[in-house]
Amino acid sequence: MAIELLITIDKKRETALSRQVYGQILQAIAGGCLKSGDRLPATRLLSKQLLVSRSVVLEAYEQLQAEGYLEMRKGAGTFVAATAAEAGTSSPPVSGDGCTVATKAPEFISFDPLSSAAAYDFRHGVPAWDVFPMDRWQRALNEACRRATPDMLTYGPAEGSFALRDEIARLVRSTRSIPALPEQIVITTGATQALDILSRLCLSKGDQVLVEDPTHHVLREIFSFSGGEIIPVPVDQEGICVRDIDRCLAAYSQGPERTPKLLYVTPSHQFPIGVTLSFNRRIQLLEWARRSNALIIEDDYDSEYRYVGQKASALAGLDTSGRVVYVGSFSKILFPALRIGYAILPPALVEPFLAVKMITDRMTAAIEQEALADFIRSGQYARHIGRMGKLYATRRACLVEALQREFGDRVHILGDEAGLHLLIELQTAADELALAAEALRYGARIYPASGYYIGSRPEYPTFILGYANLSEHQIRLGIGAVARAEQALSRN
Ligand SMILES: Cc1ncc(COP(=O)(O)O)c(C=O)c1O
Repeated sequence: MAIELLITIDKKRETALSRQVYGQILQAIAGGCLKSGDRLPATRLLSKQLLVSRSVVLEAYEQLQAEGYLEMRKGAGTFVAATAAEAGTSSPPVSGDGCTVATKAPEFISFDPLSSAAAYDFRHGVPAWDVFPMDRWQRALNEACRRATPDMLTYGPAEGSFALRDEIARLVRSTRSIPALPEQIVITTGATQALDILSRLCLSKGDQVLVEDPTHHVLREIFSFSGGEIIPVPVDQEGICVRDIDRCLAAYSQGPERTPKLLYVTPSHQFPIGVTLSFNRRIQLLEWARRSNALIIEDDYDSEYRYVGQKASALAGLDTSGRVVYVGSFSKILFPALRIGYAILPPALVEPFLAVKMITDRMTAAIEQEALADFIRSGQYARHIGRMGKLYATRRACLVEALQREFGDRVHILGDEAGLHLLIELQTAADELALAAEALRYGARIYPASGYYIGSRPEYPTFILGYANLSEHQIRLGIGAVARAEQALSRN
């Protein structure tokens, strides 16, 4: 069957009619609407459709044939030539304004620096898929669908399901010592959206944002995209070095002196180093925020799992002056594709936050919120965390043991007391990226981490290793593969 050609002829234009037909067919080829082998309408039919004489269409077809875009097959009709796609890409746009849109999009961030599949993937930030209670989650979803009223299926409140906010309020009161009311909680499409909304809300071009150094590059992108000027502050064994904030402001500030607007921290399990912010530093940080009139964003992305020592109260739980926004996520406990996170806001910020949420996506998907509220209320959630905590503790111990066995005192392990990943510094002559690439050839994917550092660079190759989604057997084989890769590089 011939392709329908939706050509528009403007008889008032100076451009010859045949040239208009020619141009629009060429554009359809260049744009991929017409592909090699497509049959064009017969000249008689197209001329009727366009209300032009047949010679107009014939002239256009002949020109395109002469240039190699079309071919006439005797008795069969006119087709887009096999070589048309190549010819089409090299030709300039023939009509339209060749519009290019100036965007301020951040550089696209690939989460997989090495793209091919690996047998032992130490990807961080992902929970164990194999033991996720999918049947129970499915039941919660089915139940939420069964209970759904028309009200739940239309545009609901931007702040999200009351049932879920109520459960979260209970959860953070009992596990994070945050005395939050459901009215202060807004459900977001992952923690990422909460962080984006906060930066859009609080930052204007050139406003300063203090971040831990190292920190996640996605966070840097979020703050920079809203015009923020990133000021890195070093991290030591006690977490962010609060006493260094003024020095860092002086060292990194561009332009006239300003007061910083935001400070972003990961107190429970610093990303990526993994240290926990000490109690003294928490108090110092809150005091600093009060003095500087700045807002602290506490990203509590994986605080549920702690293997050594006591869990500390959240910074937001210690705050008495409404200077901390607490951001939580269900990505690490259930699964990232759920895309449910939340922000606990000082009361004065709730309305402005909701105004930005409204224009961003109106609301986060509702059925999943109801299912999650049910999952938490029924006790499944707490049981899942309990089970996973035990599993991850074994996987973590296995990883530490494997690293020590393979690398002895050449490996420095950081941040293994909590969360789903740890960081290693490896004393080796090998280059960080070269080692990651070689390890992949041996079947293990490890993630270079020096890119997270801003002001300083680690002395040795540094890698972030997630262990939650690998069995003990896989962990041993994977670290063995990394060791063999390192030996191979050292021999060369
Ligand atoms: C430090 C940190 N914060 C926030 C997030 C985002 O979480 P979410 O999936 O809820 O958007 C991640 C995801 O990996 C993370 O590593």
